[in-house]
Amino acid sequence: MGRIFVTRRLPEGALARLGVAHEVEVWPEAESPARDELAAGAQSAHGLLTTLSDTVDAALLEGCPELRAVANYAVGSDNIDLEAAAARGIQVGVTPDVLTDATADLTWALLLGAARRLPDGVEAVRRGAWRTWEPAGYLGLELRGATLGVVGLGRIGRAVADRARGFGMTVLHTSRSEEGVPLEELLERSDVISLHCPLTPQTRHLIDGGALTRMKRSAILVNTARGAIVDQAALVDALHDGQIAAAALDVTDPEPPPPDDPILRAPNLLLLPHIGSATHTARARMAHIAEGNLLAALDGLPMPFPARA
Ligand code: DGY
Repeated sequence: MGRIFVTRRLPEGALARLGVAHEVEVWPEAESPARDELAAGAQSAHGLLTTLSDTVDAALLEGCPELRAVANYAVGSDNIDLEAAAARGIQVGVTPDVLTDATADLTWALLLGAARRLPDGVEAVRRGAWRTWEPAGYLGLELRGATLGVVGLGRIGRAVADRARGFGMTVLHTSRSEEGVPLEELLERSDVISLHCPLTPQTRHLIDGGALTRMKRSAILVNTARGAIVDQAALVDALHDGQIAAAALDVTDPEPPPPDDPILRAPNLLLLPHIGSATHTARARMAHIAEGNLLAALDGLPMPFPARA
């Protein structure tokens, strides 16, 4: 029997299989453990079940002599130092596939919300400003015939692109294959740009001031990947200056933004609290995969869904 530290409460009943075979401690608070609390919980653990809010770096791993497995409750693994884990023989797992549709759907919710200016409409109704039908009010982007630029054609990027067919959009994408277009061309030609690449040293601030300047002034930027792919200060400037028309974000850098973060006051911004995978189905399946990853690794087997550097 091993000891497993779970850093957040998961949906009801999610960890039943783990509890049968191992001693499970679940962090009881509504917010993630702070760094020292994570270190204390992980110190004597054989397995960790982490979320994207937990930074698992070399220093943390150093303080965990028993640790054999880290199962991230996410498809991304940018919060974990994979090299440091591998050097210590610690397996790291993720939860791919099961959140693809949930995240692609939310991307479209954001895309549609920004294209049709739903935040403006909702806000006007709530503050009693809906006085008449307005011929020239709340005008947005017609999607049929518009161009969607998908940055990163992995599982989620593909699912987003597939949905674009039903809306009659033309799709461009970046990719290493011949069908892809260079990022610069995608930025210049797209009416909506949606980010789906992982966060790596190469993609950090991929969308910086220069990239924003290349976009059409009517363009909408959608990000359901990771906040740090966008230079957030540059995005705030671009929204204030009307350099692009709007942004719709499910992710920020950091998360959550502190109360005085300028992103919270940027105009033409639809901002959600990182809920891409938040469907009952996806979150239950993510828990099942994370559990399976831990059970395998603590049995000395390879994880079924390992993180890949
Ligand atoms: C992930 O899995 O990486 C998402 O961002 C959260 O579900």
